[in-house]
Amino acid sequence: MTHSYDGRSQASRLSVGVDLVEIARIGLLVEQYGERFTARVYTPEELANCRGRVASLAARWAAKEAAAKALGVGMGAVSFREIVVLQDDAGKPALHLLGNARQRAAALGLASWSVSLSHDAGLALAFVVALHEPLIGEQTLDSHEEEADARKDPDR
Ligand SMILES: CC(C)(COP(=O)(O)OP(=O)(O)OC[C@H]1O[C@@H](n2cnc3c(N)ncnc32)[C@H](O)[C@@H]1OP(=O)(O)O)[C@@H](O)C(=O)NCCC(=O)NCCS
Repeated sequence: MTHSYDGRSQASRLSVGVDLVEIARIGLLVEQYGERFTARVYTPEELANCRGRVASLAARWAAKEAAAKALGVGMGAVSFREIVVLQDDAGKPALHLLGNARQRAAALGLASWSVSLSHDAGLALAFVVALHEPLIGEQTLDSHEEEADARKDPDR
């Protein structure tokens, strides 16, 4: 069976988005608008995770913008609170989509999402990668490797 891991199909399997934001700009919005701003942009869980750290709020703002880019739209077509950054016990962030953002991701076949955050020198950055689900009838690299293993060891 053939599989489709040539360079072109690999490229179409990924969608990426990146965003860079000045931390002071987010600090100013927090100062000026307080909860009116934070409640519009962040979920209660995100606010709890940030513990008032403006750099972390800025990184999550960037993550939401970056995810919107990976969806091929800007903020407006999707809303800030539909793109949620959660984190595991080690602090590693993960992206969860809700509402319109989730629907658009499903329509595009973008099934698996990953995000990385960084903040330093007055700037916060987020990089988002979304992976397309396998097309019907298409063999994934994992299933290809599993088949190869099964051929080597038919009793496993
Ligand atoms: C995690 C780590 C790589 C962050 O790098 P840094 O240069 O200090 O900081 P950056 O600004 O580039 O990145 C900060 C972001 O990294 C992310 N991060 C934190 N822990 C992470 C992890 N385990 N895996 C991936 N990303 C992580 C967070 O989103 C954080 O932003 P936030 O504080 O707003 O949530 C660094 O702290 C490190 O090496 N820690 C030790 C190893 C480790 O994984 N410790 C986890 C506790 S067991």
